Amino acid sequence: MSLVLDPAAQDLLFREARTANTFTDEPVTEEQVQAIHDLVKYGPTAFNQSPLRIVLVRSAEARERLIPHMAEGNRAKTASAPLVAILAADNEFHEDLPKLFPHFPQAKDVFFAERPVREQAAALNAALQAAYFIVGVRAAGLAAGPMTGFDFAGVQKEFLDDDHTPLMIVNIGKPGEDASYQRSPRPAYDEVVTTV
Ligand SMILES: Cc1cc2nc3c(=O)[nH]c(=O)nc-3n(C[C@H](O)[C@H](O)[C@H](O)COP(=O)(O)O)c2cc1C
Repeated sequence: MSLVLDPAAQDLLFREARTANTFTDEPVTEEQVQAIHDLVKYGPTAFNQSPLRIVLVRSAEARERLIPHMAEGNRAKTASAPLVAILAADNEFHEDLPKLFPHFPQAKDVFFAERPVREQAAALNAALQAAYFIVGVRAAGLAAGPMTGFDFAGVQKEFLDDDHTPLMIVNIGKPGEDASYQRSPRPAYDEVVTTV
């Protein structure tokens, strides 16, 4: 009774949501992806950096270029998912900071003048946004299949540039037959939380 979110929404986002490995043919529309973005863009990031960038792999030609970079066990599902999204961190996010963090426009130069600092911040904050994105996919009634089993350098070269670091690739769609493995256990509260 401690959670105020509607129990059906709790189930949709977490308890009944599963990582999908197979999908139906039902397409994922541009409108759905926009609705997901328009929701999850409000998830917090440090200085409102918002460094996540998303490449939607929609054409058959692009999909063919992607598959060889996937780990063997990730190829079939990436080939058959209705939509595949490459999630990347923008290491030059600081250029947008004066607009995104108008309370303190100097943040760009004061904190993020150095590339290694930006890379660290972008990796953390884009990963947070990737998590928001996965939950947003679920909020749209779809299933996500996030993957880090791929050749990062190969994907960066093929689809991104030196300023954009791949984070994960996400298959998206309605779950198909036998879409998920048996639910694996999660650590218990006492294993995770200590109080000081
Ligand atoms: C960042 C990330 C990377 C993952 N990489 C892979 C992968 O390369 N291949 C794969 O089959 N599953 C991958 N998974 C799926 C996880 O194993 C799965 O989400 C986890 O076991 C929870 O499954 P459940 O949502 O069905 O409970 C990945 C998940 C995440 C979040």
